[in-house]
Amino acid sequence: PAPRRTQDRLAEQGAPVPGPPAPGPLPEYAPTPDSDPALPANREWARRIAAAIPGSKRGIDDVRSGEAFLATIEDVDSAIAGLTSAQKAWAARPVAERAAIIDHAGDVLASRRAELIEVAAAETGKTIDQSDPEVGEAIDFCRHYARMALELADPDYLTGARFTPARVTVVASPWNFPLAIPTGGVVAALAVGSAVVLKPAPPARRCGAEIVRALHAAGVPREVLMLAPVEDGDVSQRLVTHEGVERVILTGSYDTARLFRSWRPSMRLLGETSGKNAIIITPSADPDLAVRDAVASAFGHAGQKCSAASLLVLVGSAGRSERIARQLVDATASLRVKGPEHLDSQVGPVAVPDDPKAHRGLTALGRGEHWVLAPKHLGGGLWRPGVRAGVAPGSEYHLTEYFAPVIGIMRVDTLAEAIEAVNAVDYGLTSGLQTLDPAELAQWLDGIEAGNLYVNRGITGAIVRRQPFGGWKRSAIGATTKAGGPSYLLGLGEVSPEEGAE
Ligand code: ALA
Repeated sequence: PAPRRTQDRLAEQGAPVPGPPAPGPLPEYAPTPDSDPALPANREWARRIAAAIPGSKRGIDDVRSGEAFLATIEDVDSAIAGLTSAQKAWAARPVAERAAIIDHAGDVLASRRAELIEVAAAETGKTIDQSDPEVGEAIDFCRHYARMALELADPDYLTGARFTPARVTVVASPWNFPLAIPTGGVVAALAVGSAVVLKPAPPARRCGAEIVRALHAAGVPREVLMLAPVEDGDVSQRLVTHEGVERVILTGSYDTARLFRSWRPSMRLLGETSGKNAIIITPSADPDLAVRDAVASAFGHAGQKCSAASLLVLVGSAGRSERIARQLVDATASLRVKGPEHLDSQVGPVAVPDDPKAHRGLTALGRGEHWVLAPKHLGGGLWRPGVRAGVAPGSEYHLTEYFAPVIGIMRVDTLAEAIEAVNAVDYGLTSGLQTLDPAELAQWLDGIEAGNLYVNRGITGAIVRRQPFGGWKRSAIGATTKAGGPSYLLGLGEVSPEEGAE
């Protein structure tokens, strides 16, 4: 087979993809590298993607015809019945066969990297530099869950236990990671033997369609993976509450998870939900590095990540805080804000320009707050990012997730106060500390309430297998395991002691 780690994206794109490997042990896991923009071939490759974005129609029409496309309540009802019976045969296949297909899906995604980036950019505005690692993450999910499924089936791994997957799983995926997150949920459920319906968020359904197409091309039977590119309404409610659906994997807002639960309290819901994430900068920190990491975490993908930094908590004197704020403003003002068809764009458009929450975060100041850099609407969903200072503990800005290119500054006197302020938020997804003092690090690790902790680096961009991703508090609903981690697949089924086992 072709080497996986080519790094010449032009060559990789044109190369034929061999079929799935014979079932058996898989090669050692290796994370997918991002595309190196220094290589001339990759620059040409990216230029071609950028040129294709404005008129791109890729996506939904390619899968509209066919039995794997659900659009109505009747479609849902008949599809769930079909999925339930097809699942038996899928689950009965040797796990090594399922793992080989899912690992191979990583090869198919790699061969379609350009198309996937193009559709994400055209449909959601995601910039090429942000989409490229996302395709890598999608590939890594395939590699990782294929291997984890093999491990789960190893009798030495769960001796005397029986693992029962949900017969039908619905994956409700978000628009902000329109490639990696649907892939992760879908291949995890497929790996353990579930049949799956993917319901992508409406602003990213073309991306969802591309993922389903790629998985079918990799050998996932159409009878066990279907796409429901439906609006949020009656059909989607029917889908997630259908009595034949035994598991729902949702990545979305906390409010959506609550809505799902109110529809069907007994739902087995694995919800990866909202975040309101902060970076604490202590007086010992290197301000240059701290500001660099804060800007990347706050404004990558225009702040539309559940993991994004939305608040900086500056510990120390007013003078030092002002100096850091000035550096932050300089760095933020220098960002290039352009559509994703521009290769040098660093901040793309907001995906849902009329979203009231994002708009409020970009326009409404709370008591005592002022803009040190006012956000500016540039048209076409593009906003020059904003920096506000004077955020008070307990204020709306302190506690609310906006999903927008804006960051706030709160100043406190001590690290203990900073930790208290961060923990006052209902969510607990990502959290950052910038310090050069080991005692401060120990204090923070001891007290901070968040699922993903980052020290002296940005707080977005968890890495499959190396750095599993999942939150605490209202950032996780019914989720006891982390995506991309060693136990995620266990969270998708029931493990019960086998009868008669000791
Ligand atoms: N997994 C994504 C990140 O870590 C959300 O940024």
